[in-house]
Amino acid sequence: MDILHSVLLTGHFLGLAAIIGSFFLQMRRKSDYVLMPTLIGAITQVVTGLALVGLAEAGDEDLVYAKIAVKAMIATVVLIAAIAAVVRQRKGGRVQPFFHAAGGLAIINVFVAVFWH
Ligand code: HEM
Repeated sequence: MDILHSVLLTGHFLGLAAIIGSFFLQMRRKSDYVLMPTLIGAITQVVTGLALVGLAEAGDEDLVYAKIAVKAMIATVVLIAAIAAVVRQRKGGRVQPFFHAAGGLAIINVFVAVFWH
């Protein structure tokens, strides 16, 4: 259980690094975004986050469910924004608002994760 928890938490940190790292690198761009780190990171956050919740429940650990619900909602919007950005880019539309929404909301989720106990 312990090793699985560590693996999932590592994945969770790598996922957030992918979204937020690529956001910081490209936040001043107007076009030509590299979006795969954002998309893969957003999927990783939802998958590892839900797995961490499942593991905590299996281990009878106490979670703040209001915080988990808020994080899950924000992460879902991050994922939708990432998908919308990829679709927009393929169609030649404006990607910037979706890219900024995904990056900004992922940063807000870090604050929620760290400050809400
Ligand atoms: C963009 C999306 C997300 C970001 C940036 C994020 C960020 C973080 C961070 C920084 C931590 C470590 C801080 C701490 O342990 O107090 C964490 C832990 C955690 N996150 Fe997330 N998270 C995201 C999505 C999710 C989702 C969707 C869920 C579940 C529905 C989730 C569930 C958890 C759980 C259960 C932990 C505690 C891990 C543990 O120490 O056992 N996260 N998250």
